[in-house]
Amino acid sequence: MSDSKTTPQGCPFNPADDGAQMDFDGRMSYGDYLSLDMLLTAQKPWSDTHDEMLFIIQHQTSELWMRLAIHELQAARARLIKGEARQAFKMLARVARIFEQLNSAWDVLRTMTPSDYTAFRDALGQSSGFQSHQYRLIEFMLGNRNKAMLKPHAHRPDLVALLEAELAQPSLYDVALRALHARFALPDTVINRDLSEAYQASEAVEAAWSEVYRAPEAHWELYELAEKLVDFEDYFRRWRFNHVTTVERVIGFKRGTGGTGGVNYLKRMLEVELFPELWHLRTTL
Ligand code: HEM
Repeated sequence: MSDSKTTPQGCPFNPADDGAQMDFDGRMSYGDYLSLDMLLTAQKPWSDTHDEMLFIIQHQTSELWMRLAIHELQAARARLIKGEARQAFKMLARVARIFEQLNSAWDVLRTMTPSDYTAFRDALGQSSGFQSHQYRLIEFMLGNRNKAMLKPHAHRPDLVALLEAELAQPSLYDVALRALHARFALPDTVINRDLSEAYQASEAVEAAWSEVYRAPEAHWELYELAEKLVDFEDYFRRWRFNHVTTVERVIGFKRGTGGTGGVNYLKRMLEVELFPELWHLRTTL
């Protein structure tokens, strides 16, 4: 009978015989390529509780997925500006899947009970996902713009500059509306709006999107763009919902470490509509 260190024939298995590279002296290895030394030493619990490691890794992995989402959203927007809708659609589909991935991740965090979290909560101080500059950048990129959200980053001028640079650009939805405008003339208040302000839903925009949905065959690219945006917002809403449900499960209605009303604040955020007219038109269609 063979044991785990031998092949079925009884000989010890050496992957080198199969061509595996075993010598990395001076060559780039897996760990070098991925900067694993840096990545795997970035988990620094502030308490000696067991569950803090889960809490840290859950946030860090979320930030990594957000980093990829930003990369894809930036490229998708640039492609849309160039009129390369098909390439943009592929990227937007990926961003929706990234959020689905983030949604599944809540299942791991949900294994942390209120007792587990309370044991290290004080160690977090005032830190909170509310101060995630990447999350805010994603919101700004999509069109949910609120200059008040710059304030928690005032101590980091580099991050304020990054977020302000985003506020000076058209959001993904602004770019989609410019594509819509090429077919259906939209008011100046929409097309030449102050980009740094929150987008306000417009009846003219809803009417134009409704035309697209009434005749998808005639406006296929706009129709597909609209559905890609709705698909993405659908996953994004689920992330918000999963977050608030997990938060209520873990801290009930306590205030957040970031200082907001906690669950009450997050429930308010559930009402945010990123692409409002695309949702409204479904009632009147
Ligand atoms: C037990 C786990 C968690 C708890 C108890 C929790 C709690 C909260 C609370 C209460 C807020 C409101 C702001 C505040 O006053 O702190 C918040 C905001 C936020 N959290 Fe969490 N959170 C948890 C996990 C996560 C994870 C894993 C992420 C992933 C990055 C995350 C990202 C965010 C973001 C981005 C916000 C800002 C939301 C907005 O402004 O709309 N949270 N969290």
